[in-house]
Amino acid sequence: MIDPAQSPSWRLNLDRATPASQGIEDARDIWQQPERVVEALGLCAGARVADLGAGTGYFIPHLVRALALRAFAAPVGDKACDKVGGARVPVETSCPAAPGSPAGCPGGTIWAVDRAPFASWLRGALSENARRFVEVVDGDVHELELPSSANAHAILACNLFHQLHDPVAALNSWRRWLAPGARVVIVDFFDRNLPVGPARSELVGEWVVLDALREAKYRVAERQALPYQYLISATTA
Ligand SMILES: C[S@@+](CC[C@H](N)C(=O)[O-])C[C@H]1O[C@@H](n2cnc3c(N)ncnc32)[C@H](O)[C@@H]1O
Repeated sequence: MIDPAQSPSWRLNLDRATPASQGIEDARDIWQQPERVVEALGLCAGARVADLGAGTGYFIPHLVRALALRAFAAPVGDKACDKVGGARVPVETSCPAAPGSPAGCPGGTIWAVDRAPFASWLRGALSENARRFVEVVDGDVHELELPSSANAHAILACNLFHQLHDPVAALNSWRRWLAPGARVVIVDFFDRNLPVGPARSELVGEWVVLDALREAKYRVAERQALPYQYLISATTA
């Protein structure tokens, strides 16, 4: 059987398109550990996941690959998508695409959310196959209007939190379109001098994120340390 995740036609034409950017992305892979980040999302076959502040789409190929692998590993008719963030929700393996999401995408949906100019750049960078999974949304994550029927299973917010002017308002607005028990994974740089990432003055410590999550009534499920970043996994329930 063909494994679509291994096929180059399922990959995106994003940053990796030029040798120079390929080098930057390869170096980032070492400290970003994208497989660990995606693993923390707990994705299942047919999952609907929002990559908030998607930027130049570093995580998109990793998310597409995760969904493609799960879609083709799940037996037809199996309720493989029933376990989300520790809570059970009745979703069939062939989760129908939510209204407004890419048509004919039983393998899942990725909303790649960012503002101009990233959103339009991302839209142009997606390969035809990636469009079957990915919908680019141009919007502000503080007041993101996904339909409540989106019933998203997971959110990835990597290197976004330190840029939010009102994190609690953002967390509260996300709840409107999250499925019960959905998982929110926040990754950001430790508040210390680091060889990568933004200036120290722009960083927010892990405790700031934990306080915001508590205030917005999310439950922290797991904390991990990446080489330069903290990873916090929380659920809505
Ligand atoms: C440091 S980049 C991280 C990009 C990507 N997540 C990654 O890890 O490579 C932060 C991104 O968040 C976006 N961003 C910041 N605040 C935002 C907001 N309020 N609404 C939407 N996007 C936002 C920025 O435009 C930028 O592309």
